[in-house]
This record gives sequence, C-alpha cells and structure tokens, in this order.
Amino acid sequence: MKLTGDSFITTLTLLLAVTSAVSGCPPSDRAALLSFRAALTEPYLGIFNTWSGADCCSKWYGVSCDPETKRVTDIILRGESEDPIFEKTGRSGYMTGSISSSLCQLDRLTTLVIADWKAISGDIPPCVTSLGRLRILDLIGNKISGEIPADIGKLIRLTMLNLADNQISGSIPASIVNLNSLKHLDLNIGKLSMMSRALLSRNQLTGSIPSSFAKINRLADLDLSMNQITGSIPAQLGSMPVLSTLSLDTNKLSGQIPTSLLSNTGLNILNLSRNSLEGNLPDVFGPNSYFNALDLAYNNLRGSIPKSLSKAKYIGHLDLSHNHLCGSIPSGTPFDHLEASSFDNNDCLCGVPLRAC
Ligand SMILES: *[C@@H]1O[C@H](CO)[C@@H](O)[C@H](O)[C@H]1NC(C)=O
Repeated sequence: MKLTGDSFITTLTLLLAVTSAVSGCPPSDRAALLSFRAALTEPYLGIFNTWSGADCCSKWYGVSCDPETKRVTDIILRGESEDPIFEKTGRSGYMTGSISSSLCQLDRLTTLVIADWKAISGDIPPCVTSLGRLRILDLIGNKISGEIPADIGKLIRLTMLNLADNQISGSIPASIVNLNSLKHLDLNIGKLSMMSRALLSRNQLTGSIPSSFAKINRLADLDLSMNQITGSIPAQLGSMPVLSTLSLDTNKLSGQIPTSLLSNTGLNILNLSRNSLEGNLPDVFGPNSYFNALDLAYNNLRGSIPKSLSKAKYIGHLDLSHNHLCGSIPSGTPFDHLEASSFDNNDCLCGVPLRAC
C-alpha cells in the first residue's frame, strides 16, 4: 500500500494519539489498586512502597498490565516466594486487613493471587464474580472467612480456584458446577508447609458434595479435605474423565465407597481416610489399576480385601489400617513392598505382612 504524504501524516498522528492515550495505566485502574492497598497492612517487607507514581503498569510490585491496552490483568502477591525481597528481610510475608471490593473495578483481571499472607481476614468480596475474565483465583493461606460467593459459577473461565487454608464456612455453592474450565479446585486446609498454620486456620465447609460436580469435566485435581463435609460420595465422581487426584480425607462422609471410584483407572491418588465410610470394598480392581496412593484408613470398612487388588499394575502407598476388615491379605506383586502399618488395627486380617492365617 502506498501512502500519500497527507494520509501518512494522518496515520502517524493517529498512531501517536493512540500510543499516548495508553502510555500508562488508566487512572481508574490506578485508583482501584490504591483503595485495594489502603485496606491492607503489610508491615515488614514494604512491597507496597513500589505502588507509587502515575503508571501502575510500571514497577508496581505484583501488578501486570496488558501491553497494548495498559489495563491491569494480573495481581500476584505471594507471601511465600523466592523473590529477593523475602531473602533480604529473612522472613515470609504477613499482612492484615481485608480484600477490598474496589478490586472488582479491575474488569480485565485474569489472575488474582493473594496467597500465604497468614492474617488477611474478612470475606471474599461477592463482586469478584463479576470479573468475567478471571482464570486464576488463589487466596490460599489467609484468614478469609464467610462463604464462597453463591454465584461463583459465573466465572466460567476459571481454571484454578484455590481457597485452601482459610476459615471459609457454609456449603459448596451449587453454581460451582458451571465452572467448565476448572482444572484445579482446592478448598482444603491440608497442604500446609508449617504445622503451626494448621492451628491458625481451618476451613469449615459443611453440607454434602453435589453430584453435579462430576460435570466439571476438565477437573484433574479435587481437594476438599479437612472440612466438615457430610453425606455420601457421589458415584458420578468416578466417571470424571481426567480426575487424577481426589482428596476427601478428614471429613464426615458416610455410606459406601462408590464402585466407580475404585474402578476408575485414571484416578491415581485417592485419599478417603478419616471419614465414616462403611460397607465392603468392591472387587473391581484389575491390571489397569494404578495407584500412587490409595488411602482408606480410619473408616468403618468391613469384609475382606478384594482379591482383584493384587492384580493392580501398581500400588505405591496403600493404607487400609483402622477399619474392620477381616480375612487373608491377598498376595501379589503390588503387595510385596507393603508393611504391616498398611493393615494395622483391623478386626481380623491375617497373612503377610501380618501374622499367618
Ligand atoms: C490422607 O489424608 C490423611 C489425613 O488428612 C493424611 O494423614 C495422609 O497422609 C493422607 N495420605 C496420603 C497418602 O497422602
């Protein structure tokens, strides 16, 4: 294309106008960040000292913008990280205050990580569900309380929801099943790097697991451990196509373990320990069963250990202890490396590695 002198100048002028219009973050995004900051106190590291100057896209700690529109897209504030700022002060992060609803004005936000600050309290601002572009919502390791916003299902682009290690209560909102992009859902308090944090915080989710959870068909990792969840385990969870880790340990689940869960060959880590599960273990294992960990300890399981379990391709860690199982322990390769602790405290199990039958 040939440009005449005039149209060239016009194009150039236009380009310059566009460029200068978006040379820094919009004042409204900057104002939203400043009121978010005003609701928090970070006394030790001084991360918010960098939040000054007109351009919030430039050198504001933890803030990133779209390079073209200069709208704020990411807020990533981690209280535990390798960042030199932590090395310099020799301590991990600590913040008090709460998460301001002014964040909800950042309507281009795709990533919101406010993790491991130990003492941020208050609730999740209900308006976060209006941030329609949000892909990552990670608030692990704070003291956030209140309920998960009922319309969380509006965040249809969410791939990761991590609310672990907080004080969130109430039940799991039914709308969560609309999160079709979700791959990681972590509402537990279990992944603690320091034991003391277990004493600091604990989620208190109640109610039962909605069976429609199984419709979140990209979910690879579901962690609801260490809550107060009741009811039985929906059999539908066993037919989730890419679920590989399911942690429901330390809850108040009852009823039988669904057959579909144990016959699902994609599920490699299954932790159902410390519940009130009952009944027999279904005899549904086979040469395609592959478990890095199968932990069913501390339940009320009865009957014998299914013979088919000895045909499994691999069982890295097995824990059937503290149940009411009886009869002989099957023999076979997957069992060869297991120790007595895998079978302790049952009613009448026998055979290697326990006493002879
Ligand atoms: C399963 O959960 C229990 C209780 O939360 C925990 O103690 C145990 O280590 C977990 N098992 C595996 C294999 O991770």
